[in-house]
Amino acid sequence: MPDAGAAGAAPHLRVFFALWPDAPTASCLHREARQLQGACGGRLMRQDTIHLTLAFLGDTPVSHLPILAEAAAQVHAPPCMLVLDRCGSWHGNRVLWLGPSSPPEPLGLLAGQLGSALRERGVALERRPFAPHVTVVRNALHAPTTEQVAAITWDVSAFVLVASERGLDGARYRELGRWPLGEDAAR
Ligand code: 2AM
Repeated sequence: MPDAGAAGAAPHLRVFFALWPDAPTASCLHREARQLQGACGGRLMRQDTIHLTLAFLGDTPVSHLPILAEAAAQVHAPPCMLVLDRCGSWHGNRVLWLGPSSPPEPLGLLAGQLGSALRERGVALERRPFAPHVTVVRNALHAPTTEQVAAITWDVSAFVLVASERGLDGARYRELGRWPLGEDAAR
């Protein structure tokens, strides 16, 4: 249920667009994440929460969701293979991520088209360049000693709009919409 906030306030949701792995890919990513956590400590992301963010919107009125869906429907990027073959750390080594050493061109196209379609509709987005990564460990004790990980291939064929909600055991993500990639994708 959307959080209605104070009485009379318009309901808002904390939302973002992302790539969401299918179960076998999520399982591979989680296995790799466990290795990293074993080496660096910290808190492992739950397998069902693993994703790659395309555009973070944050707190958004529920009434704006149709505009977001309209923007998503404008994207015409092809499907692609994403090979996650490196790891790294951010925020004083506390956040560990998996990412591609060579991001496929369609992924940049997808993020670029989505960002433009959202901005055209007045959505404020961070200006930082898109840096594809999958956060897998938080509160790590130190950075990985190597950048290399066993390559995981992710068959990217759709993207999703997701709401982030507080659960008893951390963030819960709820899919609000899904858009297939490719020329023949139904729109
Ligand atoms: P992260 O993986 O680097 O933490 C949901 O919070 C998703 O949106 C996360 O994957 C997070 O990226 C991303 N995100 C991007 N900008 C954010 C922000 N300002 N606050 C919270 N999450 C953000």
